[in-house]
Amino acid sequence: MGKAILGGLIASGQVQPGQIWVYTPSADNVAALHDEFGINAAESAQDVAQAADIVFSAVKPNITVKVLSEVASSLNKESLVVSIAAGVTLDQLARALGHDRKIIRTMPNTPSLVNAGMTSITPNALVTPEDVADIVAIFRCFGEAEVVAEPMIHPVVGVSGSAPAYVFMFIEAMADAAVLGGMPRAQAYKFAAQAVMGSAKMVLETGKHPGELKDMVCSPGGTTIEAVKVLEEKGFRAAVIDAMQACMAKSEAMSK
Ligand SMILES: NC(=O)c1ccc[n+]([C@@H]2O[C@H](COP(=O)([O-])OP(=O)(O)OC[C@H]3O[C@@H](n4cnc5c(N)ncnc54)[C@H](OP(=O)(O)O)[C@@H]3O)[C@@H](O)[C@H]2O)c1
Repeated sequence: MGKAILGGLIASGQVQPGQIWVYTPSADNVAALHDEFGINAAESAQDVAQAADIVFSAVKPNITVKVLSEVASSLNKESLVVSIAAGVTLDQLARALGHDRKIIRTMPNTPSLVNAGMTSITPNALVTPEDVADIVAIFRCFGEAEVVAEPMIHPVVGVSGSAPAYVFMFIEAMADAAVLGGMPRAQAYKFAAQAVMGSAKMVLETGKHPGELKDMVCSPGGTTIEAVKVLEEKGFRAAVIDAMQACMAKSEAMSK
């Protein structure tokens, strides 16, 4: 995920590679990033904290607090710290970094890896509107980004962070059905995935209600309304809502 942020940032031209410092414990991985992107290889996380105005923490959630506690004293007074760790709250981040720090909690999703991510941005009270605008612009380099209040993180996990898994299951199921109808599997995945991507684009680009777009596909007495009737009988929409309620409840339980 850190590499997706790095790649998006450089591709956008907003920041030159020479202005970026990267550290990971594996010197080989940092050297590979230096060779690929031209960024500066830092020798420690503290070096990054000293050099940067904006520090991204892209380590696993279970070590986020520890890693940030270790760099806290190296940060500059006005530095902004951006965490992408799932489930690590602004309060936990402030306890690691100090309650006088500008901190932003974000939640990207895996489509960021193909420049189609969706990221939630949650600043603490010390972050300025200009800082928020900068960070939104950075995450928009590889997809979309929206500012949300911290309690909205659980719906974000349900509708964005975890959502690619349900969509992949839907694509797989549609492709299985196409194979049942005699289509070769590789072609079936292509048709199914393109149908999902195109439909999503129609929602985003036409601004029409999804129900209206569905109605446009359903000719009277046609094939589509037959499928819609079966999906309603099998509880398709209720299943999605129940699944997401379970996901949001788990996210909430894990953050306590
Ligand atoms: N993947 C997702 O879909 C997703 C979505 C939303 C949020 N996130 C969040 O993104 C974060 C990273 O997840 P990921 O899937 O990208 O994990 P990942 O591929 O394992 O990357 C973790 C990175 O952290 C580096 N690292 C480990 N210990 C470190 C330390 N002490 N100091 C500095 N760097 C250190 C690793 O370096 P080496 O390369 O040297 O091992 C590696 O580059 C997590 O907090 C996760 O919650 C992920």
